[in-house]
Amino acid sequence: MAAIIILITSHAAYSTTVENLTCEYAKTPLGIDVKTPRLGWIINSDDYGFIQTAYQILVADNLTDLNGDIGNVWDSGKILSSESVAIAYKGKQLKSRQRYYWKVKIWDSQKVASQFSDSEWFEMGLLSPDDWQALWVGFTAGMTGQIRYFNNKFSIDKPIQRVTVYIAGIGYYELRLNGNKIGDHVLDPGTTTYSERVLYNTYDITESLVDEDNTLGVVVAPGWYGMSKLLLQMELYYKDGTKEIISTGGPGWRISVGPVIQSSIYDGETYDARLENPNWDKTTSTDFGRMIPLPVEPPGGVLCAQMLEPIRVVESRKAKKITEPHPGVFVFDAGQNLAGWAKIISKGPAGTKITMRFAENLYEDGTINQDNLRTAKATDVYILKGDGEEIWEPRFTYHGFRYIQVEGYPGTPTLNDVIIQVVRSDVNPVSNFKCSNELFNRIQTMVWWTEASNLHSIPTDCPQRDERMGWLNDMTVRIEEAMFNFDMARFYPKYMNDIKDTQSEDGAITCTAPFKFGYRPAAPVSASYVILPWMLYKYYNDTLTIANHYEGVKSWVDLLSNITDDGIVTLSHYGDWSPPVKFGTKELSAYSRVTPGAFMSTGYLYYCANLIVRMADLMGIQDDVATYRKLAETTRNALNRAYWNEESGGYANNNQSANSFALFLGIVDKENIPRVVENLVQNVIDEDYHLTTGNLCTKYLLEMLTEYGHVDEAYKIATQETYPGWGYMIANGATTLWERWEHETGGAMNSHNHPMMGSVSSWFYKYLAGIQPDAKHPAFKQSIIKPYFPSELDWVSASYDTKYGEIKSSWEKNGSSIGMKIKVPANTSALLYFPVNGRNAIFEGTKPIKRNNNIEFIKQEGDRMIYKVKSGAYSFSMSGE
Ligand code: BGC
Repeated sequence: MAAIIILITSHAAYSTTVENLTCEYAKTPLGIDVKTPRLGWIINSDDYGFIQTAYQILVADNLTDLNGDIGNVWDSGKILSSESVAIAYKGKQLKSRQRYYWKVKIWDSQKVASQFSDSEWFEMGLLSPDDWQALWVGFTAGMTGQIRYFNNKFSIDKPIQRVTVYIAGIGYYELRLNGNKIGDHVLDPGTTTYSERVLYNTYDITESLVDEDNTLGVVVAPGWYGMSKLLLQMELYYKDGTKEIISTGGPGWRISVGPVIQSSIYDGETYDARLENPNWDKTTSTDFGRMIPLPVEPPGGVLCAQMLEPIRVVESRKAKKITEPHPGVFVFDAGQNLAGWAKIISKGPAGTKITMRFAENLYEDGTINQDNLRTAKATDVYILKGDGEEIWEPRFTYHGFRYIQVEGYPGTPTLNDVIIQVVRSDVNPVSNFKCSNELFNRIQTMVWWTEASNLHSIPTDCPQRDERMGWLNDMTVRIEEAMFNFDMARFYPKYMNDIKDTQSEDGAITCTAPFKFGYRPAAPVSASYVILPWMLYKYYNDTLTIANHYEGVKSWVDLLSNITDDGIVTLSHYGDWSPPVKFGTKELSAYSRVTPGAFMSTGYLYYCANLIVRMADLMGIQDDVATYRKLAETTRNALNRAYWNEESGGYANNNQSANSFALFLGIVDKENIPRVVENLVQNVIDEDYHLTTGNLCTKYLLEMLTEYGHVDEAYKIATQETYPGWGYMIANGATTLWERWEHETGGAMNSHNHPMMGSVSSWFYKYLAGIQPDAKHPAFKQSIIKPYFPSELDWVSASYDTKYGEIKSSWEKNGSSIGMKIKVPANTSALLYFPVNGRNAIFEGTKPIKRNNNIEFIKQEGDRMIYKVKSGAYSFSMSGE
């Protein structure tokens, strides 16, 4: 329930509510291990220009105190501040296992205080290694790759106060109690470099226990770890004040095998229902076997609370159609490429073997084409026990697919017999975008599904083939796209830790995190390590991630700056990866022949040096500001020396990638900018308004054309339905982005669900709707709303949930005038860029804009009039002057 404060004031008849109390960007998080968790709230107010002028937070370790307005662990006192996002806790030291209750009260601009909000809570996990008495258990060496079933029967003989389970079962586990699954997580815990860090989950199972006898059951599968190991600590607190701990390594545990006889992320899962022991996780369990799980070598990593959204089945849907290309071979078409699995419902004799194979493509004969999955078998098998209707779904694998080929089904399956389960890290969608160009709406949906398919506790490159890695080069341009589509406030800090865990002493990070593919040191275009903390600050006011990773980020940039020759980074692995294939080094190669890798590497060194300047400035480390400013300066000069071509008026070989990247970086001397822009546009025209860029520069191409006065050219590129472009993908049946601009279905590198070309979606939000963060006012405390208006686009309507509340931006052309509707969340403001030359042409509602006290003229910039707008909803109209 949202905590609500009603502000009752004498001066105005309005109501203000404080909602969405969060701790570490989550509602009521259970089991966190940040020593100074950050609190936040959202203010809803009908009052235009509502600004919080102060707040007071109370935190208590018991509800009685809190209800009496006593913050016995922290009373912030009245803090004069308008911030309400990521306020760091500053009270007494927080204790392991303790649940803390908190509430907040705010003051408005008239200095009128609200009442305290309803209370919310957060609960600490196990903060010290000493809190763990459980031992890692499993089968000893020689038994890798198998699925293990653990159980423990225990009795409760006095009234229970609270029972908490802390569990890490790697690769993946499923926790059960008395025959039922606990919680709704799947594929837990999130994958990490297990030798550095292992995530544990916390469950409050008090309500699921029964008096007297109970049985815990845990199934553990190899997942990304490769073998099954379990660590579990159940803490029982009794009403009489006593405590008991049941943990792995202690008494009562048994281990066995069960019906999941094979499970692999790439290959799929095999389940033989005839091997089920229906009572294994129930108190009636008698024949579970006598094997005792033995202590095994711990994975080695530090145990950390899993503080990102768990993976869940987020949607269940039916296929759109079934075909039967050969007798008994049924192909289900989900109508959408996605990540997840299928639940199958069947009835037949024991031993009947149903095979489900997953694929993105079909052969001409209508059967599935798994060629582009490379070695991944993507096959789930269910063997019936012959006991009436049987319902089954896998639990320790997932697939990327649109089609499911079902063979061996007893009878003829209907659409009701195969339920498609959409599975991903359950981050919240945060936005909406619609416009008058239906192709753009489809592209936006296509990007959304691609991003959604590639969030499985790490941002993966693809969900289907034998890869599914967190590629840092792709992330360099994917971050903002993902942030405009989903709430990444918790997901990305976890990924930053994943990157950090790959870092060696010399500063080298790796191409993928966790490190499974690629090089060390990573391709220098893996700038995401440096960009991510800055974006987390800009979008969510997260300074902790900067502080946690500042040294690591710096040492990576230092390493790059040391592999230079005359300022140019000599290392390059991927560069502007996967441009249209005619620009590849050879047939089907994804390496660009035309955009120098060293130019891309050095460009990112420049970009990263500048980001460190900003981070150092934020943290008040002035020495570093100077050092990295100098590095940026040297690098910029080196880039201009090596790649500026005075004759052509462009960079490197004067193509779209090099020129747009140079403009984006801001390395172009002022007097040269017009020539670079002209060359960029000319190249676009020469290519008949098609892009020639790879995964990185596609982002800069659209953004720079737009910023430098050529939104119509950007629009034409983005609306192409011929090769190469997003419209071409859609014209060829794509429902998620391809890895290549080409339509390939063979056995090489050509995933059909690959987010790296998806920056067009952030272009929709940042440029067409014009919603942009401002690093000077992080978390959209003061947003920038600066839409662009392609001549062929009639209207745009978008919304975006910031941590302060929802921003809306929409516009519509009416003949020669433009209407704009915007909504600015309470306790924030916006800088609004009107596309007109004079101030008299703008109306708010029916009145000239100057008559509105909530809007203040700031300045004219080119052909834009800039106003600062207080919170509230506005409707503007303007005609060109
Ligand atoms: C991944 C890409 C990545 C590339 C770099 C591929 O296998 O799927 O997303 O950019 O490797 O080489």
